[in-house]
Amino acid sequence: MAPGPLPNLFDPVSTPALAIRELTFLLLGITGAIFVVVEGVLVYAVVRFRRRRGEDGHEPPQVYGSNPIEVAWTLAPLLIVLVLFLVTARTVFSLERGSPPPEALRVAVIGHQWWWEFGYPDQGVMTANELHVPVSDPARPRPVFLTLESEEVIHSFWVPQLAGKTDVIPNRTNTMWIEPRVTGTFLGQCAEFCGTQHANMLLRVVVETEPDFETWIAAQRGAAPDVAAVRAGREVFESNACASCHTVRGTSARGTGGPDLTHLMSRETLGAGVVPNDAEHLLAWVRDPGDVKPGVRMPAMRLDGASLASLVAWLETLH
Ligand code: CUA
Repeated sequence: MAPGPLPNLFDPVSTPALAIRELTFLLLGITGAIFVVVEGVLVYAVVRFRRRRGEDGHEPPQVYGSNPIEVAWTLAPLLIVLVLFLVTARTVFSLERGSPPPEALRVAVIGHQWWWEFGYPDQGVMTANELHVPVSDPARPRPVFLTLESEEVIHSFWVPQLAGKTDVIPNRTNTMWIEPRVTGTFLGQCAEFCGTQHANMLLRVVVETEPDFETWIAAQRGAAPDVAAVRAGREVFESNACASCHTVRGTSARGTGGPDLTHLMSRETLGAGVVPNDAEHLLAWVRDPGDVKPGVRMPAMRLDGASLASLVAWLETLH
């Protein structure tokens, strides 16, 4: 499992995240300057006017009702707040884009306890937990528009280097967009407490060149291969409850409760980023998912050793 860079708010690679960083630095600069001025005056006053030995403790002369001073310290903060409001509103509006432009890639995100479903409605592709998107050339931008819905509770979609957080709310469709300018893997996290495995509801966004992305899409579109050597494993899958929760195109399994597994082996992780997707972890996962991810909705199927081995052998052909 390639670890990917740690999420870093200060290293944005996508248009919305860049706009947010720019605003953050501007606001930090303005408020930081106010802090320095106010604290500076305070410290100066404390030192300069402190009570000295031998003084009689008289208060210095008090100033009341100076109109120029009153006007100055009312107007100046008002202007500062107005500036902060205007620059914030400008960024907020620049990040709100109602409908996707025709060149945009559309992705339907559905939050589940505790994994992410990603559908590509225009490409007929369905995957989970690892979102693949093409890199966007600033000369010919190709943004990715996400619609976000939830299966049951409130989640929040957050990949810090790509965009701000967007809540994923039941019975409501939220939208957001990203426009990554470099290739790479960017990590994110569900950012709204959603139950016991909230912390293990991870996100991976793989930003690829346009040809690599098209290759990935073409591969994802295909059905599962029918490999004679592992057909017994497929039968275990189809005849157990696996098939009522998972879809594997090319088989009779059409469940929608859990992730689409048609191309399971094209993903780097299992259980929404909990463990790497290799032979050892796949076996442990299928044997008892709750061992790997306590609270997970997938039950242990209590298969005998031979069935388990043949099932896993079949799963490993789902590239
Ligand atoms: Cu989903 Cu926290």
